[in-house]
Amino acid sequence: MPYYRQVGEIPHKRHTAFRKPDGGLYAEELMGVEGFSADSALLYHRGLPTAIVDAVAIEDERGPITPNHPLKPRAFKTQDLKFGDADAVTDRRRLFGNADVTIGFVHATRPSPLYRNAAGDELFYVQGGSATVETIYGSLEVGDGDYLVIPTSCTYRVLPHDDDGGVKLLTIEARGHIGPPKRYLSAKGQFLEHSPYCERDIRGPSEPLVVDGTDVEVLVRHRAGLTRYTYATHPFDVVGWDGCLYPWAFNIDDFEPITGRVHQPPPVHQTFEGPNFVVCSFCPRKVDYHPESIPVPYNHANVDSDELMFYVRGNYEARKGSGIEVGSLSLHPSGFTHGPQPGAAEASIGAQFFDETAVMVDTFAPLDLGEAADASEDHRYAWTWSGRGPGA
Ligand SMILES: [Fe+2]
Repeated sequence: MPYYRQVGEIPHKRHTAFRKPDGGLYAEELMGVEGFSADSALLYHRGLPTAIVDAVAIEDERGPITPNHPLKPRAFKTQDLKFGDADAVTDRRRLFGNADVTIGFVHATRPSPLYRNAAGDELFYVQGGSATVETIYGSLEVGDGDYLVIPTSCTYRVLPHDDDGGVKLLTIEARGHIGPPKRYLSAKGQFLEHSPYCERDIRGPSEPLVVDGTDVEVLVRHRAGLTRYTYATHPFDVVGWDGCLYPWAFNIDDFEPITGRVHQPPPVHQTFEGPNFVVCSFCPRKVDYHPESIPVPYNHANVDSDELMFYVRGNYEARKGSGIEVGSLSLHPSGFTHGPQPGAAEASIGAQFFDETAVMVDTFAPLDLGEAADASEDHRYAWTWSGRGPGA
């Protein structure tokens, strides 16, 4: 996240003696990306962030991913996935994945273990409920419609709120960093006037989170798998930090849609970019106002992308009649031309407003299918444009 933030106590000059009340030194840590050549934060710990007393290999139980073969447009219903008393880290179920990104879903109702993902940034979309996300930078409250970006190697845990029925999360794990589209940022990182959201819409931790504890376990996802560290003291021991690298949230309702006289292409809805993927927000909006405009999309062969849509509110205009509901996902792979369901183009002419909300993930490499995709697929979807399937 490109703009500067300061929380808690920090010394006036970086890399100078900063002392605790007992006279000892706070331990300074620089957390930075791209080898000291990009955004970073300086954090001041009561204990040593290096002091581990154990490291144990943990089995990764996410299961295999399989290619989309035969190649088909597919739909899935996250609302049909079963979760017991789940946590947002270890009970996350994998829907899709490739070398760049892993996409999962969880309905979490109990606290997660302390966790950090050293393989890349994580992006959550909150589909319902609410939670407190505690991090080494401080806490963030998240609720329906929030996006939350958690930087690589940021230790955190998710505490779902019981009185809200827990929290439902679409989880997007990158092999790299996730941020706002660069075209919306100035050379120095300020959001530009044509950006659909800006600094005022963004929330970050506002006060330190300091927890006492010894021999504290932290689950670490890294390139080779999962390792459980035991730290001598609690990792939530940061009394202050400053910099431009920290977890941040903003709500999809604060994304201001860009509209036009005729149909606007998906890049106007872009919200984030990651390595070899983008995330877009389709929000309730006034639609195309040319008198003869067709507000739903034209058929399109976006030949370099797999297009995943997560339908989160309303009744998506272009998909009416396809079985898509709130909680559904559609996957339109490269190699398949997709478009509105039959009748949707005609029905949309003259519409003034679309009351629909969807989150789209476009990946530049094909998405393979995980166990949660297999468990929730609506196998009728591929044939909904023709109205008949094989043998019919
Ligand atoms: Fe599309």
